[in-house]
Amino acid sequence: MERRLLDELGIGMEAPGAFSGSWTGSGSVITSTSPATEEPLGRVRTASPADYDRVVAAAREEFLRWRTVPAPHRGELVRRIGENLRKKKGALARLVCEESGKILSEAEGEVQEMIDIADFAVGLSRTIGGVTLPSERPHHVLIEQWHPLGPVGVITAFNFPVAVWAWNAMIAAVAGDTVVWKPSEKTPLSAIAATRIAAEVMEPEGYGSVFGLLVGGPELGQRMAADPSFPLVSATGSCRMGRSVAATVAGRLGRTILELGGNNAVVVLADADLDLALRAIVFGAVGTAGQRCTSTRRLIVDETVADELEARLVKAYGSVRAGEPWAEGTLLGPLIDAAAALSFEDAVERIRKEGGTVILGGRRLPRKGHYVEPTLVRARCDMPIVGEETFAPILYIIRVRGLDEAIEVHNSVPQGLSSAIFTSNIQAAERFRSAEGSDCGIANVNLGTSGAEIGAAFGGEKDTGGGREAGSDAWKAYMRRQASTVNYGKELPLAQGVRFDI
Ligand code: UN1
Repeated sequence: MERRLLDELGIGMEAPGAFSGSWTGSGSVITSTSPATEEPLGRVRTASPADYDRVVAAAREEFLRWRTVPAPHRGELVRRIGENLRKKKGALARLVCEESGKILSEAEGEVQEMIDIADFAVGLSRTIGGVTLPSERPHHVLIEQWHPLGPVGVITAFNFPVAVWAWNAMIAAVAGDTVVWKPSEKTPLSAIAATRIAAEVMEPEGYGSVFGLLVGGPELGQRMAADPSFPLVSATGSCRMGRSVAATVAGRLGRTILELGGNNAVVVLADADLDLALRAIVFGAVGTAGQRCTSTRRLIVDETVADELEARLVKAYGSVRAGEPWAEGTLLGPLIDAAAALSFEDAVERIRKEGGTVILGGRRLPRKGHYVEPTLVRARCDMPIVGEETFAPILYIIRVRGLDEAIEVHNSVPQGLSSAIFTSNIQAAERFRSAEGSDCGIANVNLGTSGAEIGAAFGGEKDTGGGREAGSDAWKAYMRRQASTVNYGKELPLAQGVRFDI
């Protein structure tokens, strides 16, 4: 990677990884490595326990001021962060591409998602509203209002190194909360760059500690989970991590937003438009090298069209070009690191042991970087590995007979993030997204499982953790609700007709 790119984003040779209005980092030094070339991209000084104390104390103190700033003014600063993101989109996307290994177009899409959520948050800053309800008492009014909650801890994964922070941070900021972010230590440079982009707007206005940063290992996340400074911890990552965060935060009666593993399926019925289905499946299963939470991992296909779709998938996979993620025409970049490539190989071995048939792929690519072949597997839904999320481009093809069986197979896994059906039958489509259909947080019709817009609340059920981020009314999780009754009369009537005369 060219030094110029890091200079443009203000990242020094051994960048400090802790921020709360000023940059420090007195922990150990980590090296961010390109998953595509295995070359070092830059070094970061991680946050030490003392840095943690300083950043969290600053977030607590800043909250006391920030919560009093009128929400539309908070929105104005977020608007300017969105503008700064627009200016830096090219550079930030390039860094995300180099550091996470996702292809450039997807990296640009990720930064666009940050801009979109900033725009959404600006609108929200003028529309956060409570309800006024009829009181049963004369000359009384019942109001529900929303107040800032406190510092929010945000823990994110490598696969969306900047967008998931923005979903949380932009909404939290207009809600009046401060944010302390612990990004994945696999993508620290992207996190530093995003924090700088926000700080360039916030610091001159005197609010440099609204968006804090702590780069480091899992111990930082564990500390955040246990720390009552954070009334809310929003965590994205594996189910294992989520269980630990949930237990710790629940132990101190805090709140969580959890966005954990997915095991997303596309259902293809006999009457589906196979051209559409094919494109959606390939994007969903191969995009981001199968490392999105929303990646398509299971294809549940009606047996009448299974042979044809399988043949077309094999052909389409054959034309997927693997290569440097920044190169024009590349559709498949590397996995994030050597451990991810190993877990891909382990999964392929287990698939064979459990009776699955690898019909395409299954091997690492003989080149530098953590590249693996996009892999198609004929599988049965009772194979234990089909119930697990392997963060790699492996697609399980499961044959079924008709919609009922498709839904049953669909809902048979522990996770519940995203789902999709391809059909031209309106009754089947409606049933799939009805209460007796998909049990996921997302249920799409005639489009794939990944690539959601920010407008709707994003998240999933079951082992996915139940949290919701981004659009719609997800903001409510970042605020505290207050019910307020006002008496504008001269009497003091008690509710429920209770009499208590003195
Ligand atoms: C994730 O993988 O954690 O819907 C988030 C999508 C993206 C976000 C994915 N907008 O695929």
